[in-house]
Amino acid sequence: MTKLQLAKNCIIDSKKLFLGHVGIAGTTGAGKSRNVAAKLLAECLAKQPSAPNGVRYAYVVVDTNDEYVGFTDRYPGQVVVFSPDATRGIPFRITSKNITIDDLSMFLREVTKKQLSKAELAALYMAIDELRAKGDYTLEQLYTRLYELEEYSLLPAFEKIMATNIFAPEETPLKLLARPGQASILAIGGYSAEVQAIIVAHLLRELFLARKNNEIAPCVIFLEECSVFAPEGELVPSSEILKSIATQARGYNFILVSIFQRSSMTSKNVLSQVGNWFIGKTGNPTDRQAILRNAEKIETEHDKVIKNLKAAKQFLVTGFIVETPAVVEIPDQKILLSKGGRIKPTVIEATFRREDMTEYVAKIRSLEETEQKRMKDDIARLRSEREEKLKVPVIPKETRKELSHLKTELQQTQVRYQKALEGLKEKEKAADRKARERFEATIKEQQAEIERLTRQVAIAGAGAPEEKSVWEQDIVKHRLKPLSEKQRDLVIFLERSGPSAAEKVAPTLGIAPKTVTAYVSEINSKIHGLVAFDEHKGVYHSRITELFPIQQSESSKDHERTLAEVVQLRQDLRHAQEAAATKTAEAAKLEQERNQLVKQLDSGKREDEWAPVLEELDSRLAGMVKLLGKVEG
Ligand SMILES: Nc1ncnc2c1ncn2[C@@H]1O[C@H](COP(=O)(O)OP(=O)(O)OP(=O)(O)O)[C@@H](O)[C@H]1O
Ligand SMILES: [Mg+2]
Repeated sequence: MTKLQLAKNCIIDSKKLFLGHVGIAGTTGAGKSRNVAAKLLAECLAKQPSAPNGVRYAYVVVDTNDEYVGFTDRYPGQVVVFSPDATRGIPFRITSKNITIDDLSMFLREVTKKQLSKAELAALYMAIDELRAKGDYTLEQLYTRLYELEEYSLLPAFEKIMATNIFAPEETPLKLLARPGQASILAIGGYSAEVQAIIVAHLLRELFLARKNNEIAPCVIFLEECSVFAPEGELVPSSEILKSIATQARGYNFILVSIFQRSSMTSKNVLSQVGNWFIGKTGNPTDRQAILRNAEKIETEHDKVIKNLKAAKQFLVTGFIVETPAVVEIPDQKILLSKGGRIKPTVIEATFRREDMTEYVAKIRSLEETEQKRMKDDIARLRSEREEKLKVPVIPKETRKELSHLKTELQQTQVRYQKALEGLKEKEKAADRKARERFEATIKEQQAEIERLTRQVAIAGAGAPEEKSVWEQDIVKHRLKPLSEKQRDLVIFLERSGPSAAEKVAPTLGIAPKTVTAYVSEINSKIHGLVAFDEHKGVYHSRITELFPIQQSESSKDHERTLAEVVQLRQDLRHAQEAAATKTAEAAKLEQERNQLVKQLDSGKREDEWAPVLEELDSRLAGMVKLLGKVEG
């Protein structure tokens, strides 16, 4: 049995003290750290209590304000300061070797104060997957892999994590942290509550696991700011492990000394498992309520007692260690430094030279140097690769010349295009107007001509005397009566067509050329000498006018002339109508072309298509001008 004298009137049995977890409560300034915790640790270091298994306890202090580093002055051989900052103590490291995506994303979230995006998470998965396939990996390798993948958004957060120096390829051996009879102060002052929570969570998980596996000595953990690491009604990275320790660790001689300002804001999981209490002055009634509800042997009348305790001096002690709750006086131990205190350089030097530390310190230094150098080299390589990629390619002089030439040409062509566009519009307008005028005039002329001719045809037709051929004269008709119809037709044909060969006569009568002679001799037998045959020319001719002379009047000659004129006029009229139709069709075609051109001009305004359109327009314009010339000609 080891007696720990905490106050004049307070000597407690260490076995009873560490039978359960210990709670130190009180408002800020109540003396929880400088008085109670400091006294408790000092007594333990001095008296070296053992756990029920006979092994001396090891002490680990989570020093969130770097106050406990003062212990190194008082107990140089027994107390070692660890810190992520190697200038403040032995390097404290969490391994980043094969860090899981969960741990990493939690850390990134805490650092960036925001959720990772899906894309960032995906990139992280990819990088980890690739590295894992090759074997063990470190945070630095992960960083360079993300750099290679050009996932830059995560890099600043990674840099922040690396700047904390908490992660390293190798973890601080738990055996160095938990040494029987000795204390390790983990100075994590200056880090954000989130980062501290991650460190605490990791440290406690590892220590508790090692303790359960009996790999380290029984432990007493002093945890400052317990309301922050195990808050009520909120989950932080350390919540889970603190709940496990509170409920399960006692049996493993893994004792938690939790120190909290705000009892009401500390997780019930932790409060309810506190067996021995040191309660300092507590002003807040809600906090007192939480204490009254959870502390052993405390009754409602203690509310007043707690309220009226002298700050930084008096404490109400209760739990297994006392029969009944008692107020004790524990003075400031003057061991702790002010918050944010620093271990003396001479002490640090001495610590680094400690036999049990040298090997680890040398190893971690060399590992970190190698890793950092590798990362620097990798990043430098990546940077130069990237710069190389981004470099503007060198353009040969000739190409550059050609390029500038092309540029000027392009600009000039653009100007030309604009001008052509405007000119074309003007030309098109003028051509259109001219063509219209010409066509309208021509069509008008043609129409006038048609009208004139039509009128003349009408007049000529009306004014002509009744026209009668020689064979239609009554007297001739009478003389020709002896002839059959076909014989008469033959005579009339010859009269009309003039002298004709048998081959010409026969088809019109529907007879064979051979039979023409027979017809002719029959005709001549009926009317002698009516059809004569010119043997020399081989043609037949009618002799009606000779046999039956009929006086042709002047008017009848006039009539014939008029008739010929009408025929000619009819022909002219037809030609005029045809010419008019052709011109109208041409005009319609031109009109169509013009509409198409206007459409093309509009669409041709689009810059990317201007060149082919310009060409098209030019050729169309030429075509139109040509056509116009033809029409005008
Ligand atoms: N560097 C110091 N030197 C002397 N006295 C100090 C120093 N720092 C604090 N004190 C005094 O010691 C008393 C106890 O301080 P301590 O830090 O132990 O309180 P605490 O209960 O741990 O408060 P907190 O919850 O804020 O840590 C304070 O009331 C204060 O007046
Ligand atoms: Mg304190």
